[in-house]
Amino acid sequence: METKYLLSENQIPTHWYNIIPDMPGPLAPVMHPATLRPVGPQDLAAIFPMALIEQEVSSQRWVAIPEPVRDIYRLWRPTPLFRARRLEQALATPARIYYKYEGVSPAGSHKPNSAVPQAYYNKLAGTKRLATETGAGQWGSALALACRLFELECTIYMVKVSYGQKPYRKSLMQLWGAKVIPSPSRETQAGRGILAQDPDSPGSLGIAISEAVEDAATHDDTKYALGSVLNHVLLHQTVIGLEAKEQMKMAGDYPDVVIGCHGGGSNFSGLAFPFLADRAAGKKVRVLAAEPASCPSLTKGVYAFDFGDTAKMAPIAKMYTLGHDFVPPGIHAGGLRYHGASPLVSQLLAAGEIEAKAYAQNPCFEAAVLFASTEALVPAPEASHAIRAAVDEALLAKEEGKERVILFGLSGHGQLDMGAYDAYLSGHLEDFAYPEEKIRESLSKLPKVTP
Ligand SMILES: Cc1ncc(COP(=O)(O)O)c(C=O)c1O
Repeated sequence: METKYLLSENQIPTHWYNIIPDMPGPLAPVMHPATLRPVGPQDLAAIFPMALIEQEVSSQRWVAIPEPVRDIYRLWRPTPLFRARRLEQALATPARIYYKYEGVSPAGSHKPNSAVPQAYYNKLAGTKRLATETGAGQWGSALALACRLFELECTIYMVKVSYGQKPYRKSLMQLWGAKVIPSPSRETQAGRGILAQDPDSPGSLGIAISEAVEDAATHDDTKYALGSVLNHVLLHQTVIGLEAKEQMKMAGDYPDVVIGCHGGGSNFSGLAFPFLADRAAGKKVRVLAAEPASCPSLTKGVYAFDFGDTAKMAPIAKMYTLGHDFVPPGIHAGGLRYHGASPLVSQLLAAGEIEAKAYAQNPCFEAAVLFASTEALVPAPEASHAIRAAVDEALLAKEEGKERVILFGLSGHGQLDMGAYDAYLSGHLEDFAYPEEKIRESLSKLPKVTP
């Protein structure tokens, strides 16, 4: 009757798993935002160090994790895998529910898994400062920490609505030495442009990315770091799923369904890709991405070439998108307010290898409160989407009278998100209507790209 499955430090993976050689078909090219032609490594060198550009396109199935990175991973990895027995009991389900908990990292989420190697490769390349965006502040705090550990400066453009909602995330970033700027800001041309059109803009990840990319592109000593979406970020996150596979073996179980919440795709992919490798080898496993109903890129977006940011400075990728200038409603799961999706996740969805479902924020918070009441941990609002999906799967198993093994990613804790819980518990949490008109308008502005 074990509750946690724990690995020892020497079982921290030595390699990341790269899904690119196992993808169903070739990857679509990535296009330059100005020329609309495929980008080469030199185009990306203005904002990324070469080691990360190489990882972005690598066709090696296994990529060695540098020892200094593993050394920092040891501060919190391997993370625990839990069997959610109390949640199972509360749901009276025949399903067996497991969750992989990434909230034990110093920043409170999975984000340091990629922040640490990104800071490391930048340090090796002689970068002095990193610029980035953050939604809820989880990625920003992870990068602030990683920059602190590798002695890099860090500038973070934080989406304005989250800057107001999550003041202590800002404090955490500052504690680790980062400069935090609410976005849209007057510091960049991109920010000034948005403010001229809409002085009250709540900001979005797409806007904050534009500001950070502009900052990096206009300063020689500065590079840009992205917390999700890109292939190399997803690669770094696969430590989650690689550990989880070992821990499921310890539990003597194998998941029928693997679930992750989806913003740009990094925690979802980190958990799911190692299981998709089994699926590619013929194993039966379903994989489900859970996203917010008010920013439903996977379930309501179109699979098309689009800009990664609002001001059209970031490369154009083929992905499920709601349009680069779509500004999602200010839900509390700030880390899920991205107009697009990872190109790898998008291709897998288009090929039918994975599924996606969208959830409104109230049912997600309801599941999060049930989870906190049974399993005791307070989930990040982003992760509550995965919990909702897992609870629904467990309730379906009960209805069908079937056993089912469910594994979901608890990507972070919510102890700095209490404003969101206050809003839910006092009945003030709004379920935004699906912003159909705004999305239609935004989708009419997709770039015309011929690959
Ligand atoms: C706890 C947590 N989970 C999930 C996400 C979504 O991002 P991604 O899709 O890259 O995992 C975020 C983003 O900030 C987050 O903070």
